[in-house]
Amino acid sequence: MTESTCRVCGAATRQFLDLGRQPLSDAFVTPDRVDDEFFYRLAVGVCLGCTMVQLMEEVPREKMFHDSYPYLSRGSSVMRAHFEGVAQSLLTDELTGDDPFVVELGCNDGVMLRTVADAGVRHLGVEPSGSVADIAAEAGVRVRKAFFEEATAQEILEAEGPADVIYAANTLCHIPYLESIMRGVLTLLTDSGVFVFEDPYLGDIVGKTSFDQIYDEHFYLFSATSVDQMARHHGLELVDVERLSVHGGEVRYTLARPGARTRTDAVTSLLADEERVGLGSPVTLGAFATRVAKVGDDLVTLLRELAEQGKRVVGYGATAKSATVTNFCGIGPDLVEFISDTTPAKQGRLAPGSHIPVRTADQFAEPYPDYALLFAWNHADEIMANETAFRDAGGRWILYVPDVRVV
Ligand code: SAM
Ligand code: TMP
Ligand code: ZN
Repeated sequence: MTESTCRVCGAATRQFLDLGRQPLSDAFVTPDRVDDEFFYRLAVGVCLGCTMVQLMEEVPREKMFHDSYPYLSRGSSVMRAHFEGVAQSLLTDELTGDDPFVVELGCNDGVMLRTVADAGVRHLGVEPSGSVADIAAEAGVRVRKAFFEEATAQEILEAEGPADVIYAANTLCHIPYLESIMRGVLTLLTDSGVFVFEDPYLGDIVGKTSFDQIYDEHFYLFSATSVDQMARHHGLELVDVERLSVHGGEVRYTLARPGARTRTDAVTSLLADEERVGLGSPVTLGAFATRVAKVGDDLVTLLRELAEQGKRVVGYGATAKSATVTNFCGIGPDLVEFISDTTPAKQGRLAPGSHIPVRTADQFAEPYPDYALLFAWNHADEIMANETAFRDAGGRWILYVPDVRVV
């Protein structure tokens, strides 16, 4: 199927990229369960009406977000600092009235709300994955184990009153059912409140050919243009945008009720930039798909050459993104010996689909491999600064964003 209907506006979508049969990106398996893996077809289309880029097939949410969901937001010091900054700016700019209230969708381990809790400000995290919600609760964050949707918003409103800020990081793009979310936002938000969310930016994904940002959990790849349309469609207004460097390039979008806030010049400017480069056009996205195929070919060619030369290659960071790369390219333990990762729930398991073993960070140095394939390229500065001993020992990094190269 290469035609479908847009989940936001109902117009026709056109497929521009097929990344093949893929496993759940965060389903790290034990060796005895490799025959039980769930697969789906990972293809991406663009709406010819509102330009929203979206997956052609939806994975049921309970398969992705549950009591064994392994991803921890606190795994990166850069991200910890980022979320502390987010909390501080919300406290300073928005949560200033009498007894303010902030709700976070997908609060994960509480990395952002901890700072809000420390400031004594009323807050609630809504987090369906019990594994990480429990960690947030232990950190002193108030958390409700649930999927946010219209009904959840109504319950929160009745129990706690309206929210001055609704915030979501790397979560809204995970949610196909935006209609229910946006109705929930309209239900829960105060008249002058803001809905702030930050997610990987289509402009960066296309600009850097970072096709590994596409996987089951990333149902939408947002742009200012598509979010503007989506907001209007649901009776809200896009009033501010800010480009962020985290996670390989994101945008923070601020939505408000129509007329409640003045739209900033940053919105006008980003919309104009996207129009100029034709960001949401099938032509631009088709050219992106051609570059994706080349990156995949170049990476496999390099890994095969290194294997033939008897070099040891180890993966760094068992990211959800790495599932797309390994399964699209057919990279298995024959080409990448293991993947080093700091997340306890991933260690000792096999990476989804590829079945490359995941080991602890200590094992990366025992002894160092010849090459490290940087799957966590979005944390490159932090990782390379921590791993200078690997370089000093003669090790080299393999990068594949924006193109394949050894550094
Ligand atoms: N906000 C954190 C960050 O930026 O690091 C966590 C992001 S994590 C990639 C996405 C989170 O969204 C997961 O913890 C998942 O359980 C949660 N999630 C998925 N669907 C949700 C929904 N409908 N409502 C609230 N949270 C949801
Ligand atoms: P992310 O790109 O989705 O944030 O995932 C990063 C993954 O990489 C996560 O599993 C944690 C892991 N990681 C390390 O193993 N070492 C590191 O230094 C960092 C920053 C992340
Ligand atoms: Zn649409």
